[in-house]
Amino acid sequence: MALMMTDRLSNRSSARPIGVFDSGIGGLSVIRALIERLPSENIVYLGDTARVPYGIKTKSTITRFSFQNTDFLLSKDVKMIVVACNSASAMALDALRAHFEIPIIGVIEPGARAAVAASKSDVIGVIGTEATVRSECYHREILKLRPEAKVVARPCPLFVQLVEEGWLHDPITYQVAQRYLAVFKEENIDTLILGCTHYPLLAPLIGEVMGEDTEIIDSASSVSTAIQRLLIEMELTNRSDSPGSREFFVTDLPAKVSQIGKMFLGMDDLKIELAQLG
Ligand code: DGL
Repeated sequence: MALMMTDRLSNRSSARPIGVFDSGIGGLSVIRALIERLPSENIVYLGDTARVPYGIKTKSTITRFSFQNTDFLLSKDVKMIVVACNSASAMALDALRAHFEIPIIGVIEPGARAAVAASKSDVIGVIGTEATVRSECYHREILKLRPEAKVVARPCPLFVQLVEEGWLHDPITYQVAQRYLAVFKEENIDTLILGCTHYPLLAPLIGEVMGEDTEIIDSASSVSTAIQRLLIEMELTNRSDSPGSREFFVTDLPAKVSQIGKMFLGMDDLKIELAQLG
């Protein structure tokens, strides 16, 4: 009897959703990878579209926003939090982990690990927001794993706006990419980390500009592997065989996000609700 009860309780807790937040729609790249890898998991997503971009803001502001986002997801009874935003992972992850007891995963360490595994020349490029590049978080993670690596990083802030605008295959975006990425060609990198969760939406275009000799690291898929590993370790994998539920919240402009989200996730129906943060 006691055994059955424990089993039921652990089932209930493993059926709780995974909470994912980003400053906007960029975290949908993580959702796409997560659905692919763990289709039975229930997911609640929060995009803070009212306050995007985070990447040009200070550490204290990004941390305050990240705490509010986490509180919102906790109100949805999530079993783990995924900070699907590089800027928030770079600036707020340590503070979040120190404050909340729930498991919290960021996107930087998995991305750095994938890049080190892919690079042959050990010359690795990183693109991200100003906050992420300024924090040098990728330098630190990469050098921990490969002390002899050379890391070249530069911010590409306009990419975020172009993605939020939905200009994923636009000639203007192509020109912006050529200008931002020229330095990486000069430095002969062989691997480029998309160190911002918005950028995987531009991965085909960035790949075209960089050419086929450059390995593009979209940390979304490495993050989904890290999530899977943590769920197994904590015995929190949802045991259901049916596809998980997905709930999407944003803090502003749900209709616009729904349009881009449908295109990106390949879903015909994508209901997005407005979130009220405390
Ligand atoms: N998704 C955010 C990140 O990964 C970029 C957008 C922003 O600046 O808020 O850093």
